[in-house]
Amino acid sequence: MAGLPVGFLWGAATAAHQIEGNNTHCDFWAAEHAGLPHLKEPSGDACDSYHRYREDIRLLAEAGLKAYRFSIEWARIEPERDLISRAQLLHYRDMIDACHEHGVEPIVTLHHFTSPRWFSQAGGFMGPEGVDRFTRYVEAVCDILHDVNWVVTVNEPNILALFSRMTAPTAQAPASDDTATVAMAQMPTPGLDFAARIGQVHRAAVSVLRRRTHAKVGWAIAAQAFTATEGNEAIFDEVFHAWEGAYYEASAGDDFVGIQSYTSQPVDADGPVPHPAHPDNTLTGWAYRPDALGINVARVWQRYGIPIFVTENGIATADDARRIAYTRAALQGLKDAVAAGAEVLGYTHWSLLDNYEWGSYAPTFGLIAVDRAGEFERTPKPSLAWLGRVAASNGADLG
Ligand code: FCB
Repeated sequence: MAGLPVGFLWGAATAAHQIEGNNTHCDFWAAEHAGLPHLKEPSGDACDSYHRYREDIRLLAEAGLKAYRFSIEWARIEPERDLISRAQLLHYRDMIDACHEHGVEPIVTLHHFTSPRWFSQAGGFMGPEGVDRFTRYVEAVCDILHDVNWVVTVNEPNILALFSRMTAPTAQAPASDDTATVAMAQMPTPGLDFAARIGQVHRAAVSVLRRRTHAKVGWAIAAQAFTATEGNEAIFDEVFHAWEGAYYEASAGDDFVGIQSYTSQPVDADGPVPHPAHPDNTLTGWAYRPDALGINVARVWQRYGIPIFVTENGIATADDARRIAYTRAALQGLKDAVAAGAEVLGYTHWSLLDNYEWGSYAPTFGLIAVDRAGEFERTPKPSLAWLGRVAASNGADLG
């Protein structure tokens, strides 16, 4: 059985706000305490990974995974405008060192949905200093990135485009209030004005990183595996451009593009079709579509020809056997796309830990369970060892 190309990186992903705990200087923390109906519970201590990251990295490494994608929290590095915390930079430097000590490749994301409150209050990325303030933060972080080989500038800019709607005091609960979390895919179409601005932010960050580091650089796009229903091809093109195409176009010249894939949605005359209630739906209310990954990889490679890194893929389920089944099918789709010519550099599963899913702890995506009511004990699930075995065979054996 054929595996994936030599050097393919296997790992797992997390994001700072979802696992660290007490990320009090960021905008999302403020929203969690503003009584918004769709943010069902606050992040609180999260998984306490701010203190327990060495254990997280060790568990990942012991399972046989070789890459850890995590994010640096801007709100910790710059809790107030122009106040750069050396101590917090050194904290993240120690995470990088912990990865290296365990033979794990760190994949560092510089922005994963959350921003410092002062930045959001000044208008965020759309504000007058949106590009400049982020660029300065990236400059500060470059001090700790000299031996980091992979950097993701911005996580899911195409979902970030909708985040201010979720956190604004006037935010409305989306139609999918019956699901455990906010169903991103039922949110309005991201605006092209935001795409243009965040594209500038990304390009500015890339040039700083190219000057100051030798890392491979890209950003990570939420890929929706949209499919056109009959007669709606023109609408599909419009929807695809606004949701994804504009962002892939802004990736031109990057070393890779991250794609993050969970589900697939048809597009009809009204745009993306909401996921109908179905017994197969996952804990986020998304349709069970492991084939989405293969669709996304093949499409992005064919249309843009940029090397791909699967920076996220996974499923919210309480049934770990289903997680394995989903991931096996998704990886089969990935292998088929690679066999057909797509260049794919690696795969980091979402997520290493059960974590805070932007408003609720209920949708569990983790390869490892966390006892948040007790002493934050980590309990690896069978899926962690399974993914480690897949990694050991470089994808040849999907078990
Ligand atoms: C992605 C996010 C990640 C997580 C997964 C389920 O949109 O990047 O933080 O919420 O979805």
